[in-house]
Amino acid sequence: MALLYLSSPERGVIWRRVFERELPDLPFLEGADAVTDPAAVRYVASWLAPENLAGTYPNLEMLISVGAGVDQFDLARLPRHIRVVRMVTKSLREMMCDYVTLGVMAMHRQLPRYIAQQREQLWMDHGADPARRKRVGVMGLGQLGLAAIEALRPFGFLLSGWSRTLHEVEGVETFAGRDGLRPFLNSTDILVCLLPLTGETGHILDAGLFSALPKGASLVHAGRGAHLDQDALLRALEDGRLSAAFLDVTEPEPLPKGHPLWSHPAVILTPHIATITDFEEGAHCAVESIRCHEGGLPVPGLVDQVQGY
Ligand code: NDP
Ligand code: OXD
Repeated sequence: MALLYLSSPERGVIWRRVFERELPDLPFLEGADAVTDPAAVRYVASWLAPENLAGTYPNLEMLISVGAGVDQFDLARLPRHIRVVRMVTKSLREMMCDYVTLGVMAMHRQLPRYIAQQREQLWMDHGADPARRKRVGVMGLGQLGLAAIEALRPFGFLLSGWSRTLHEVEGVETFAGRDGLRPFLNSTDILVCLLPLTGETGHILDAGLFSALPKGASLVHAGRGAHLDQDALLRALEDGRLSAAFLDVTEPEPLPKGHPLWSHPAVILTPHIATITDFEEGAHCAVESIRCHEGGLPVPGLVDQVQGY
């Protein structure tokens, strides 16, 4: 039995140390060349899944994403008996809380507009509302969406959330499914996207969705680039449907030089840095998933391969 690690050498140094201490009987093989007996590989930890994973490692039981998302894997081509897990860690949640707070505050206090004015040496006041009159709606109420809601709560925003299945969150108006989307959007001034990318959520942030938001609403997007129809966003910014956007993810990443989102005065763009998985915590999360899998216990970060997240 062995774990095959296929990620960066920097992360590998930490993961090896944690695995050798926590699971000393599980050989830690770094890189496909380290495998002498493919039948011994029970676990693969990677960001991208190698081609023909199941054929190459016939006894593979679990594919571990070294990130929080699993959209980079082609789940449809993976046999169902191979479990897929992802990172569920405290630092991922903490960093996403920082990022969403930063983005929501930037939208709430019209930061892109004031940055553009500073460049023009223009001193002009556009008014402001207290947070308790601003409606912030979070798409995705998983580990990150729920943490973001808790981070935003102390500021007094009017909070709502949208998910696939209905959640009850104290003090938060919740909506679910396609039927719940329009009423959720109709009452959202600042929309935060923390959805996973699945067959159902690709290009969900499109012209139709923007038209359901109140005029002048804004977007904080830290899900995946492919959630967003970037041309529709540019049009919505031009015609005033949206006032601003704070984006951590794009399609492709990075955007090509000269893409209009790079220089749009109403857009703040960051290079997919909302969260960065802490190597040590990530290794412990993987160890825990393996222990639970072997012990027949509920596995943290287990992905529903049919739903795709
Ligand atoms: P979770 O799986 O914990 O939560 C996903 C949430 O999205 C759930 O609430 C789920 O609903 C909801 N959802 C899924 N599909 C739909 C749908 N079709 N309609 C409505 N709601 C849906 O994911 P995480 O919170 O861990 O992560 C979310 C995403 O954040 C990741 O998949 C990744 O894309 C992105 N991410 C971005 C990072 C960055 O640095 N920018 C870093 C890490 C993650 P339900 O609760 O009903 O199941
Ligand atoms: C992740 C990410 O999924 O970095 O971990 O986006």
